[in-house]
Parts: sequence; C-alpha cells; structure tokens
Amino acid sequence: METEPEHAFDDVDASGVAPELIAYLEAVADRPEVRALHDRVLAALDVRPGERVLDVGCGIGNVARELARATGTEVVAIDRSVAMLAAARERHDPALDVRYEPADVTALPYDDAAFDVVHVERVLQHVADIDRACAEMARVLRPGGRLVALDTDWASLAVDIPETELAERCLSRVQQQFAQPRAGLRLRRLLTTAGLRDVTQEANAFCYTRLADAAVPLPMLDERLPAEAGFVPAGDRDAWLAALARADENGTFVAGFTGYYALAHKR
Ligand SMILES: C[S@@+](CC[C@H](N)C(=O)[O-])C[C@H]1O[C@@H](n2cnc3c(N)ncnc32)[C@H](O)[C@@H]1O
Repeated sequence: METEPEHAFDDVDASGVAPELIAYLEAVADRPEVRALHDRVLAALDVRPGERVLDVGCGIGNVARELARATGTEVVAIDRSVAMLAAARERHDPALDVRYEPADVTALPYDDAAFDVVHVERVLQHVADIDRACAEMARVLRPGGRLVALDTDWASLAVDIPETELAERCLSRVQQQFAQPRAGLRLRRLLTTAGLRDVTQEANAFCYTRLADAAVPLPMLDERLPAEAGFVPAGDRDAWLAALARADENGTFVAGFTGYYALAHKR
C-alpha cells in the first residue's frame, strides 16, 4: 500500500519537501492578487510607528518585513520550522528590525499583553489545536490591541474539468491535507471564542483561468511539486495533471477558492 505524507506545512522540517515549500511561499508572495490582498489587510490593520508586532507562522518572513517597514520598530516573527526561519533570515533586509524566533503558536514564549498587533496568515489551517492557538494569540495581545488572521476555506476549492469523478477524488483528498481545512470560514467564531471582540470578517475570492497562474497558490495543481508532497492521491496524480493540462490547452480551465480575513480587537 502506498503511503502519502500528510500535512506538509504542519511540520515543514519533517516533510522532506522543505525547499519546495519555501519556493512555494516565495512564488505566492510575488503574485499580484496576493500583494493586493496584503496591501488591503495591512491598511485595515493600520499599524502605527512604535507598535510591537508579532507575526505568527512567518514562513519566509515577507509580511514580517512589510510590517517592520510600516512600524519602523521591531517585529517578532515566529515559526515552528527551523528551515523556514533559515529561509526568512536569508531574505532579511538589514535596514529592518525583524527578530526571527522559533516558537509554536500553541505555546507562545511571551508574556501576557506583550504585543500591540498580532498577524497570522495561512497558519491556523495547519494547527491541530486551533482553539489553543487562538487563545495564545489573544493572551499575548495587550488590551486595545488588534489581531488580523488570514486563512483559506479549502472546502471552497473548485476546479472545472470534464473528468468530474477524478476531480472529486482529488479535491476531497485536498481537504485531508490540512489539519483545519475550513479555518478561513471559521475565523470569526474562533477569535470570538478566544475572547477577542468586534471581529469583522471579509472574503476574498480567487479565480484563475490559466493553469500556470492557478498552480502558484494551489500546490495540488502544480506538477513541479513531487508526488511525495501528497497533495493529490498518488494513484490519480498523472491523470489529474493530464486532465488539468488538457483543460488549459482547450481554453476551458477554471479554478477558484475563497480566502477570508478577520480583524479582531482585545478589550
Ligand atoms: C503556509 S505557511 C504560511 C507562511 C506565511 N504566514 C505566509 O503567509 O506566507 C505556514 C507556516 O506556518 C508554520 N507553522 C505551522 N504550524 C505552526 C505552529 N504550530 N506554530 C508556529 N508556526 C507554525 C509553518 O512552519 C509555515 O512556515
């Protein structure tokens, strides 16, 4: 029986595909629709000079550096992966004050009320104890502080190809790849349960009509990611990639999904 690794981003260091995951984050960060979303979210967050900011699950650190640029003060960027932190440090801009530290969101090594702002993007979908993660982020936020969370609703992922059963199998496998496939949809409830207040939530729909564009944020569509990354059932992988390529060549390819972001406050 074939074995398929689960949840690559849960434990990047043990995934066996850390370089591919780093390259994936880099390519996603460069997409214009992702840059536009970051601009919108950072404007809503309205980070002010001097505020203490925590970026949770910083990956390669691109947003942490944007936040440091906006505040002119130190941003603490944490990630549980040693490989990710190394990649973030390699990309560091010495003009900016970013401290990259190993930490797990479910046990943050910081005092209560240590930060004015918490940012967490595409991390909660990977965390089994998501309630604990939200409680920890709420704990380290000072009264009057705010948190922004961005996440995906993987159940919304849809791909239109004529091979509907194949698509169904591959897309349902995608949901098993994430500890919390519906984290994005659940943000408002999660953050409210964690004790945060005035939680607003907005959706961001992504729609792609070219496979090459879609494959950047959607690793399950990306032929460059090795089978071991396990984003689609290994037995279906060749047929799936061929069907996607055919739809693309025919000019009928469509893929879409919904991301959400929530802005929450601590009283
Ligand atoms: C999909 S990446 C997102 C990275 C970055 N926030 C971004 O949006 O580009 C998920 C990141 O969360 C980290 N991560 C996963 N579980 C974590 C945990 N329990 N505590 C801290 N970081 C975690 C992973 O190592 C990875 O770098």
